[in-house]
Amino acid sequence: MKKKLVSVVLAAVMGMALLAGCGGGSAAPAEQPAEEKTEEAAEPAETAAEETAEAAGGELADKKVGVCIYQFADNFMTLFRGELERYLIEQGFAKENITIVDGANDQATQSGQIDNFISQGVDVLIINLVNSSSASTVTDKVVAANIPLVYINREPDEAEQQRWTDNNWNVCYVGCDARQSGTFQGEIIADLGLDAIDFNGNGKIDYIMIEGDPENIDAAYRTEYSVKALTDAGFEVNCLDDQVGMWDQVKGNELVNNSLSQYGNDVEVVFCNNDAMALGALQAIQSQGRTVGKDIYLVGVDALTEVVQYVISGEITGTVFNNHFAQADSAADAAINYLNGTGNEHNIQCDYTKVTAENAQEILDSLQ
Ligand code: BGC
Repeated sequence: MKKKLVSVVLAAVMGMALLAGCGGGSAAPAEQPAEEKTEEAAEPAETAAEETAEAAGGELADKKVGVCIYQFADNFMTLFRGELERYLIEQGFAKENITIVDGANDQATQSGQIDNFISQGVDVLIINLVNSSSASTVTDKVVAANIPLVYINREPDEAEQQRWTDNNWNVCYVGCDARQSGTFQGEIIADLGLDAIDFNGNGKIDYIMIEGDPENIDAAYRTEYSVKALTDAGFEVNCLDDQVGMWDQVKGNELVNNSLSQYGNDVEVVFCNNDAMALGALQAIQSQGRTVGKDIYLVGVDALTEVVQYVISGEITGTVFNNHFAQADSAADAAINYLNGTGNEHNIQCDYTKVTAENAQEILDSLQ
């Protein structure tokens, strides 16, 4: 089941990447693929994957991969790295040659880990930065060591990505466009209609926003585009509170508890930039005697299993599937493409999927 899903999403991702940026990344793709590369990208995913493994002639088993994760204590990145390791092994890498390290949310720690990988002479690096603003420094030292580099999850800014293109470096970013996830969150709420949402009858959607770590552009985009989807749909909105919960369940719980204590029944919608914080928000909502779907609404992003189960039971209004299978597999494929000399576009994107009570069971099945 999972394998089938992976093939399907991979085909979709590669197809979307071909359609120049898949929903439009925050950075200009501006890649100039060689002719053979364009042809190769057009092939069905499975065939291409088989071919890359063949082209590497089984040598992948000898290649060393260094993977830096910004923080192991992050639910979403835990799913991501699990899939990344599984898929790298499936593609022919040896488990003992894949080293995945925890940056513990500290850039100095992560920079030291990158230095170690460079001195060990790894063949390729996959990096989930702690601070996106460190991208240029990290890129410079990895490129100087002649090691191909795949960034994941925290997108370096446009100027940084332009350098990769201008210098024709073996550096790329793999991720999803978080504007789409924000838009989907807003649409889930907008689709309910004002009558169902406007419990206090002021003609507006009164909401609180719980944001992720500003080091990840996903936080800003989700915040902006969830509200934009409401105003685009013609609703008046009223922001009661906007707080930074750092993607963390405990912080999300504290912040929503405070907001609910302060604004009480006026809070009609709780937007959380991710599901971990939505789980914390749900605990706060329940502890204050409120009921999702009856006197308040709650949306997250990621489609963590627990959250999708809550969407099915109606305890969370909706979420947005942040496809860690597609992102991890594409990142691994990008690494393989560098190793076998095929190269990559500099910005490889994938799509989010809206999750509501209507399709939650289907999404849950695909996550198993
Ligand atoms: C995910 C969050 C995660 C963050 C880590 C986001 O894309 O939605 O759950 O904490 O990435 O950088």
